[in-house]
Amino acid sequence: MGLLDGKVAIVTGAGHGIGRGHALELAKQGAKVVVNDLGGSVRGEGQGRAADETVALIEKRGGTAVSNYSDVGDYDQAGELVNRAIEAFGKLDILVNNAGIVRDAVIWNMPVDDFDAVIRVHVRGTWSTSSHAARYWRAAAKSGETVRGRIINTTSGAGLGGNFGQSSYATAKAAIVGLTQTLALELLRTGVTVNAVGPSGLTRITASIPGMPESFEPDEVADDEWHAMDPSNSSPLVAWLASDEADHVTGHVIRSIEDRIIWMQGWKERKTITAGGKRWDPTKLGDVINQDLFETRAPGMRF
Ligand SMILES: NC(=O)c1ccc[n+]([C@@H]2O[C@H](COP(=O)([O-])OP(=O)(O)OC[C@H]3O[C@@H](n4cnc5c(N)ncnc54)[C@H](O)[C@@H]3O)[C@@H](O)[C@H]2O)c1
Repeated sequence: MGLLDGKVAIVTGAGHGIGRGHALELAKQGAKVVVNDLGGSVRGEGQGRAADETVALIEKRGGTAVSNYSDVGDYDQAGELVNRAIEAFGKLDILVNNAGIVRDAVIWNMPVDDFDAVIRVHVRGTWSTSSHAARYWRAAAKSGETVRGRIINTTSGAGLGGNFGQSSYATAKAAIVGLTQTLALELLRTGVTVNAVGPSGLTRITASIPGMPESFEPDEVADDEWHAMDPSNSSPLVAWLASDEADHVTGHVIRSIEDRIIWMQGWKERKTITAGGKRWDPTKLGDVINQDLFETRAPGMRF
């Protein structure tokens, strides 16, 4: 018995790296998988058939999968991806939004077209596939079906805390958290949970950072073998979030780094001061904010 027997899943960007690991794990747990990948470079240039390699690996291991080569940033192609699951396997239960590209540079060197390209794949891509899946699940729920849908998005440390040289990527990954929290609210009554994972591992993306090792994509890793930088280390978390066991989990951000699972907590009120029913005087705010809010002197705030 697999955790996902009878389920149908889409994993975007599953031709390489982390998404490939998710697709293999979901298939191992019994899901039928649509392996999506545009097949371009790490910068999102060109296209190819990387999805076929993941499908072949799943089939070699006894699982069931089909390829799809949609560009998730194209709204209509994102719709074709959702339809591919329904046409091939009759339904959709799980959508894992993982596809991503990077075009890193400090902001004063980053061309605006590179900013747009990164936002397009991560944000527009995650939103577009989710939009088509949400329409499908809403229609199913309205026709009386019991829906147990899953959307699992992909954020990163850059989006959660910022990262030098990644103003486009960090912005995109932070936006995905806002999207996750909003879709968790909007789809709650439809029966769909929406969460975000923050994975890790050596992939084409990390290999594009100067000094970093090659990506880790072996055909086989024995069940009792474990590598700290294996990009499939977060796939067990994704498989569990995708399962019926995680019915109660929605709107969360959970990182999976090496062997650790880390439940993240976002922006919370830390301290409030009040002007006592009148408008603040900006010439007095400096003292009040430094002493009463920060409880420190201003220079100490620059770290
Ligand atoms: N590697 C890490 O340490 C790390 C850490 C945090 C988050 N992430 C995130 O994990 C996800 C996977 O990245 P990865 O590191 O495995 O990189 P990767 O390059 O190996 O995989 C990304 C895949 O997405 C595909 N893709 C790109 N644009 C696409 C599009 N428009 N439509 C469909 N597919 C497209 C690529 O072809 C590629 O196969 C990304 O969202 C990335 O931001 C990675």
